[in-house]
Amino acid sequence: MDIAFRSGTGADERVDALIVPIPAGDHGQSDASRLHDLDARLSGRLIELADDAGFSGKAGSTLTVPTLGLMPARRLILVGVGDADRLTAASFARSYGAAALAARDAGARSIAIELPRTTTLPASTLVDAAATGVQRALYEFTTYRGATRQGARPNVERAAIFGDGIDPTVGEAAMRRASAVVGGLFLARNLVNEPASVLTPERMAETAANVAESAGLTIDILDESALAALGVNAMLAVGMGSSHKPRLIRLRYSPNNPAEADARVVGLVGKCITFDTGGYSIKTYEGMLEMKGDMAGGAAVLGVMSALQALDCPVPVEATICAAENMISGESFRPGDIITPLNGVTIEVLSTDAEGRLVLADGLVDTARRGATELIDLATLTGAAVVALGEGTTALFSSEDDLAAHLIAASKDAGERMWRMPLTEELKEKIKGDVGDVKNSGGRAGGAITAALFLQHFSEGLPWAHLDIAGSARFPKNGPEGPKGASGVGVQTLIDYLVPPGM
Ligand code: BES
Ligand code: MN
Ligand code: ZN
Repeated sequence: MDIAFRSGTGADERVDALIVPIPAGDHGQSDASRLHDLDARLSGRLIELADDAGFSGKAGSTLTVPTLGLMPARRLILVGVGDADRLTAASFARSYGAAALAARDAGARSIAIELPRTTTLPASTLVDAAATGVQRALYEFTTYRGATRQGARPNVERAAIFGDGIDPTVGEAAMRRASAVVGGLFLARNLVNEPASVLTPERMAETAANVAESAGLTIDILDESALAALGVNAMLAVGMGSSHKPRLIRLRYSPNNPAEADARVVGLVGKCITFDTGGYSIKTYEGMLEMKGDMAGGAAVLGVMSALQALDCPVPVEATICAAENMISGESFRPGDIITPLNGVTIEVLSTDAEGRLVLADGLVDTARRGATELIDLATLTGAAVVALGEGTTALFSSEDDLAAHLIAASKDAGERMWRMPLTEELKEKIKGDVGDVKNSGGRAGGAITAALFLQHFSEGLPWAHLDIAGSARFPKNGPEGPKGASGVGVQTLIDYLVPPGM
């Protein structure tokens, strides 16, 4: 989609749909109300129509009105943005997503988008949130649409955001930020939506190499023999049963203009199981259905890395994607096996289906050894996290209150729901090994917590945060943030964490 910022008002644009924000409780009575102006242009019938339809300006509600030739735009889409003085970037982006979907449902290919006149949010935030909200809502995964779906419903092709009274340099800078974030988000969604027959560990590595080339990153890909030489044994064990062997993908972003001479290096680690059958601790039919998405952590890490240069991120980032496929064959690892990962903490395999924590064990240690001063991992790690928090919420675990607070603040800006869970000391004994140091499964009770406690053995004493995205990596249905399928969760939060908006 072609999207641009323009100064001035969109009211006289010859487009298929003009999107106009309306605050809650605005019934067009005041002269300052946009509803009031538009009512005058639509023969004094708009306010009555909006009232009849029960449109109240509630955040995310929309009303599509044909303009019957009275305005250059073919239709007007009113979008509620809620309480004017409680507007947040996240709610605003979501409302604009709903408006974009209403435009597409009406068959619009070109849209003009107005921004609210008075608000407590800075202009750059409004433009950024509108551009992000509209684009992410209209995302589609079209790669495998066959003949029967062709021409079903056209998508919006052209959008212009009109910032009346907004300095064009401010508007354009916000558009550039939105476009980098959306690029990373769509990269992550596309990778997660790809079938596992296509997105193998080696294909993930190739994709990362292409991203590194175009996004100014350095990359180092370790294949099976390099992993064996280095002793990355947990990743090797997980990937042993597949003919698509594991790849450890190392990416580095170095800023052109480092913030200070401080030695901070952020480490990002992504679980990238391109398919999770469970291995010999095999999953059920139902349990296996969505397991092509078990690489969402790795995809999010790549999405974030793809955007850092364009955003002029001030901090260096060391990223690791642990790519492997968890399959069954005569070569597969088994329950009862003992694995010695990079840092020598021996692991007793109870379940071959608790494979994510195994690849992350090696990934965390490798990232620490490459100089990270803090570690953040993303993983579709446990069904227990989905049971605990439901779909759409990421479980956050952290050794450090400060790091947790920063990530939660970033997630609020980004509009990605996140909830902190405890690293309960008393549960540590559940994963204490019988013959090895640590077991890879602590049983059903507190399953998301014991998984996190397992990972902590491999955080090398660094400040560490773990994001269990098992419940949030997919949208279970179509919505204003995007269609059913991959959500790209983590990309927006981590970018906001690394490059705070308004910097
Ligand atoms: N990839 C799954 C977790 C998962 C479940 C992700 C549902 C998305 C939706 C993970 O590898 C897994 O199988 N975890 C096991 C761990 C158990 C064996 C200790 C689980 O959660 O059941
Ligand atoms: Mn598993
Ligand atoms: Zn898994």
